[in-house]
Amino acid sequence: MKYRSVIVPKRGGPEVLQVVENDLRRPSAGEARIRILAASVCAPDISSRYGHTPFAPRVPFVPGYAIIGVVDAIGKDVTNAAEGDRVAALMGYGGYAEHAFVGQEELIPVPGTLDPAEAVTLILNYLVAYQVMHRSARVDAGDKVLIVGASGGIGTALLQLGKLANLSMYGIASRSKHHILTEYGATPIDYHTQDFVEVIRKAEPDGLDAVFDGMGGDYFKRGFSLLRRGGTLVGYGNPLSFSRMLHLLGQVI
Ligand SMILES: NC(=O)c1ccc[n+]([C@@H]2O[C@H](COP(=O)([O-])OP(=O)(O)OC[C@H]3O[C@@H](n4cnc5c(N)ncnc54)[C@H](OP(=O)(O)O)[C@@H]3O)[C@@H](O)[C@H]2O)c1
Repeated sequence: MKYRSVIVPKRGGPEVLQVVENDLRRPSAGEARIRILAASVCAPDISSRYGHTPFAPRVPFVPGYAIIGVVDAIGKDVTNAAEGDRVAALMGYGGYAEHAFVGQEELIPVPGTLDPAEAVTLILNYLVAYQVMHRSARVDAGDKVLIVGASGGIGTALLQLGKLANLSMYGIASRSKHHILTEYGATPIDYHTQDFVEVIRKAEPDGLDAVFDGMGGDYFKRGFSLLRRGGTLVGYGNPLSFSRMLHLLGQVI
């Protein structure tokens, strides 16, 4: 039996993508074979296709960071999944395909009532947001935090989780998207027309407990300057400059 995958045979735009067919093998020991129902299109899929990230796999590769599917075969020694289970996996790559092979420890059960195409879009953004907020910064109710890029995919996940955690939130976004921030109780700051450092210094003279920064560049340094002593800045992306991020990290460490 054959299955189809979408491959990146060379770096470039979406026009480089090609569909290929391979033989469908049995899963190896410890692995489940997933019949993929939905794969999201994530920023890393695109940056890897262009080669705009130092973490891009070598070509050819199958992109596809996150999937939801149904287990359709299991290898020897698989104990936590059975044929017919609905599961999610954060694969890194390999998701743009009809089937994928995933180690059993990577499988996350997904309720069959959820629409797989809707639920798959949550996996990467919410995983990053949860790690940033609860595992790295370890926020407490009432903490004062700043979210840079608050209207984006991770930003809105941080807003939702921040509201659940009863945080006092400031968010940076374009004015046309400020209604998203106010919906979650955050104070919006427009990065086009306002100096966020000035606004927050005035409102929070004792400093912030945490800054969540997916932009990097100057935001990293300026966000850092807003922290109270012992506060935490979590950087989780740097589209403004990767080499500059390394330079800044070198200064901080
Ligand atoms: N998505 C993920 O799961 C994931 C995982 C790991 C790391 N990251 C990294 O996290 C960052 C954000 O990802 P995302 O998926 O949330 O992106 P996104 O959905 O495209 O959102 C980007 C956000 O950045 C804001 N923004 C754009 N240019 C800006 C500027 N010059 N100054 C301040 N804010 C600016 C946008 O604000 P407006 O649209 O309101 O202007 C928007 O809120 C990226 O660096 C990405 O590589 C993402």
